[in-house]
Amino acid sequence: APVLSSTNSEIKSRITRKRDDLANGDAILAEIQTDGRGRHGRQWLAPVGGSLTFSMYWSFPDGYQSMAGLSLLVGVAICEGLRKVGVEDAQVKWPNDIYLHGRKLAGVLIEVEGQIGATAHCVIGVGLNINVPQDQYDVGQPHTDLASVLTAGVDRNLLAATLIESLWHYLDEFSSYGFGKFVPYWESLDLYADKTVVLQMGDKRFSGIDRGVDESGALLVETRDGIMRFHGGEVSLRGH
Ligand code: ATP
Ligand code: BTN
Repeated sequence: APVLSSTNSEIKSRITRKRDDLANGDAILAEIQTDGRGRHGRQWLAPVGGSLTFSMYWSFPDGYQSMAGLSLLVGVAICEGLRKVGVEDAQVKWPNDIYLHGRKLAGVLIEVEGQIGATAHCVIGVGLNINVPQDQYDVGQPHTDLASVLTAGVDRNLLAATLIESLWHYLDEFSSYGFGKFVPYWESLDLYADKTVVLQMGDKRFSGIDRGVDESGALLVETRDGIMRFHGGEVSLRGH
């Protein structure tokens, strides 16, 4: 679509209006998003022509529990797709970001539009910077874009198709087997593997060493009192 407020909102409204028309893997891309969102209602900045913004529909017949680890799985799928277009060293930052050379390249926003019967209907939103020059845009944290590494340029359609295909593949496997079999792959891409991290949960703060994730996608942090597990939601992770 040329202009949408948010591709996530668009799929969400289709889920509520006419769910029967949606099949797993259906995706909507927007040239322009007027109200792109990140987690906690934060803004996602996407200059016209300089970014890829899309959302995909996927359903989980067994409900919420079978979505455990989904945002991490999506990170793995995006990194694999990026590899196919020549970006070898993208990394994941728990729970929902993609980094390149220590800077944020892309974000993932997963939303569930209610559970209808047993089935959880879910929207997977991806925003990726293609050409968002660091000296022209301040997004509130260090960011980067594909134009900085792919000097020959980026074919946006090819990129979109490659990422979507990668998502299809990984989501199929994930639906059958869960996140467990992807744990080692995720950990090999982890930006903070074995590094000190600080987690902020409301006004509580924890620090420890990132020791990877479990099969539910929870982050394992080694502290003086042993290993603590953190689930997505309200937790923010920072390097130290
Ligand atoms: P947290 O660890 O709390 O999730 P986060 O940085 O992942 O932190 P999100 O809410 O997931 O926060 O993402 C929204 C944030 O992404 C915004 O607050 C902004 O700092 C950043 N952001 C917005 N647009 C872009 C962009 N085009 N590229 C990189 N980062 C962006
Ligand atoms: C984040 O880092 O918090 C996630 C940002 C996700 C942005 C994408 S852009 C396409 C989709 N539509 C939205 O409104 N948000 C996601």
